[in-house]
Amino acid sequence: MTVQIDNAHPVLWLDPKSPIGAAEREQLEAAGLQLLPVATLDDLKQGLAKARLVVIRLMGEAGLLQEVKKLTQSFGHDVPVLCRVERGALSLGIEAMRRGAYHVLPAEEWSVDVWREALALAPKRADAAKPAPQKFVFVDPGSQHLLELARRVAQTQVSALIVGPTGAGKEVLARVLHDASPRRNGPFVALNCAALPENLIEDLLFGHEKGAFTGALKEHRGLFEQAQGGTIFLDEIAEMPYHLQTKLLRVLQDRKITRLGGHAPVELDVRLVAATNKDLREAIAQREFREDLYFRISAFKLSILPLRERPGDILPLALQFLASFGPADRAVQLSPEAIGRLQRYSWPGNVRELQNVIQRALVLCNGDVISEHELMFDEIDSEPEQIRLPVSTQSRLMRYGQREIAGAHDAMPVDLSSAVRSSEYQAIMAAIQSTKNRNEAAKKLGISPRSLRYKMAQFRDRGMPAMAAAG
Ligand SMILES: Nc1ncnc2c1ncn2[C@@H]1O[C@H](COP(=O)(O)OP(=O)(O)OP(=O)(O)O)[C@@H](O)[C@H]1O
Ligand SMILES: [Mg+2]
Repeated sequence: MTVQIDNAHPVLWLDPKSPIGAAEREQLEAAGLQLLPVATLDDLKQGLAKARLVVIRLMGEAGLLQEVKKLTQSFGHDVPVLCRVERGALSLGIEAMRRGAYHVLPAEEWSVDVWREALALAPKRADAAKPAPQKFVFVDPGSQHLLELARRVAQTQVSALIVGPTGAGKEVLARVLHDASPRRNGPFVALNCAALPENLIEDLLFGHEKGAFTGALKEHRGLFEQAQGGTIFLDEIAEMPYHLQTKLLRVLQDRKITRLGGHAPVELDVRLVAATNKDLREAIAQREFREDLYFRISAFKLSILPLRERPGDILPLALQFLASFGPADRAVQLSPEAIGRLQRYSWPGNVRELQNVIQRALVLCNGDVISEHELMFDEIDSEPEQIRLPVSTQSRLMRYGQREIAGAHDAMPVDLSSAVRSSEYQAIMAAIQSTKNRNEAAKKLGISPRSLRYKMAQFRDRGMPAMAAAG
């Protein structure tokens, strides 16, 4: 039996460590939380669609937060996330805030008042779905030209394809296309085709009728239907499985959709914007991508340059990130040496890397000026001097994230994401070298061949040698 409590707020509760006891549950309900059950993937999907808040318990590291954020974003909305950490796990709490949690509470906290307050602090979901217009930077002449072109393409109804390297701003450009189009008041729905398992993509995109398969207890409107009157953005389109490409092509041709298990087709009024960092012609030659789908989606092709080829954007972007992530009560600046360093760097991770570098620098910097020693780049391999931080910065880093650097010596990656990436890289290369083909390697790693391909492509984009062996 479920009791509907007035003013109760649906909350998705994820705690891999321990279930909630009856007394604690009572406290939470008294504070206004209506806990949604999560036992299956379907629960999670439905919960995300309904929840006003996601509460997750972090154990030792913030990876789960990133997974949850990615998942909510791939559903096209951003539900606020509150993280529970063990009391006293300060660096983990800071890390969670830095990665986008809106609030952190000790895992042992059950007080009605505290939870009520936490609920009141949560940003409204409606706000999250319709963010305040973001300020995007298009300063370099190359970027200005692209923006101009995008605005013209926005006026048309045909599909558009955005190509560009990782982190260069493909999703940003997709938003520009939507916001500058006559569909701007309609929804913008985004899906990352590489981030989800194959069966989930199909269900998410096309939806299903009640009873279409075991466990389909309710009808589900797919993202195409949710995007009616607006834009659907399919990121990493090259990662879409071949048989779904066929289905997508049919939907684009017919402008109609039939839910799984359904009979009556639904008319669609949706504009497709797709993006990829792969060479689709190469994928066509490899028979991984349908040529006819390529023709249909690439009527207008917009190419985003790597950041190093539009140097005029670097400083304005850095200043913009300083303003958005810096302290509200004072302005943090860049030293002239730091500016020089930013301008000389090759930016293999493009705008996203610049954003990471500025966020890290803000954490490391004590005063109001960021020095070049506080710039930590993602690509530590190509920047050996970055590893040898001055002692003062090292000790601050120690304080900031002891776990990340515990036992580190000079030659170890100094931030968590580089450490994770380099160990992931090593594991993948070892699996490839010890197996006969990619499918076997993927099996050994416990991931799908599609995810393996995606990861390899990311390594290649970052200039890591990932072509070898994988047959
Ligand atoms: N022109 C810009 N102005 C301001 N911020 C930008 C701009 N371009 C990119 N960004 C920021 O950089 C980050 C990466 O951008 P985005 O997600 O659009 O890249 P992407 O090409 O889709 O990356 P990926 O290949 O990883 O999917 C985002 O946080 C985005 O807000
Ligand atoms: Mg993207």
